[in-house]
Amino acid sequence: MRRKLAAGNWKMNGCKADLAQIKALCAAHETATVDLLICPPTTLIGAAAEICADHALQIGGQDCHAQASGAHTGDISAQMLADVGARAVIVGHSERRSDHAETSDDVRAKASAAHDAGLQAIVCIGEHLAEREADRTLNVIGAQLADSVPGDASAENTVIAYEPCWAIGTGLTATPDQISEVHDFIRDRLVGRFGPEIGQAIRLLYGGSVKPGNASQIFAVQNVDGALVGGASLTSRDFSPIISALEGAVEVS
Ligand code: PGA
Repeated sequence: MRRKLAAGNWKMNGCKADLAQIKALCAAHETATVDLLICPPTTLIGAAAEICADHALQIGGQDCHAQASGAHTGDISAQMLADVGARAVIVGHSERRSDHAETSDDVRAKASAAHDAGLQAIVCIGEHLAEREADRTLNVIGAQLADSVPGDASAENTVIAYEPCWAIGTGLTATPDQISEVHDFIRDRLVGRFGPEIGQAIRLLYGGSVKPGNASQIFAVQNVDGALVGGASLTSRDFSPIISALEGAVEVS
């Protein structure tokens, strides 16, 4: 049984006052039956981790450099994230891939750096709309998966997030059938590469306009082990019902 994970990606949102949302989440989910992760901007990680010190809610980063230290002005290493209390880091988010021209090779190096620092890497993959319309979704996902996930991946150090680029921040959500097709494909590929034990144990998140109103439908899809949530993770009011939907999820298809 894979333990479910509700992960929030605050992106470039949040100042000190917004730590109140993390306090509220801790208070509302004292005894969560799923894993909880919030990835605030780097500036808030230390304070957020202190708030969550006695709570199951974990704090993560949104990106890291592939190297542990060095002359890389403005960058943050996985070690530095771990040092201030992060337990995970998102790598290869489509906004990093497009804004910073990150390739899957870059993403794999970052995931390895995360592993070396003892962080869980949340490796993001997803197709663009033009690729879906050209019927290339599974080719794109297969290549990104193969190139972005390091060979030492395990259920403890790696989570895969399938986030179709056209669904991120757009209000468009992939249908349960579309999610199911891609998640089953990813599961097969993981089992093929890492063997059944590891391949079946690595968690697969869906991301892209997950909201309180559509979460239950998404969580009912087989091989969906949780969500990576952007906009709706910014407030406890929106994220809390998504967590509750995941706790109550029963896979039907
Ligand atoms: P969204 O973002 O929930 O705002 O669509 C998801 C993500 O980018 O992780």
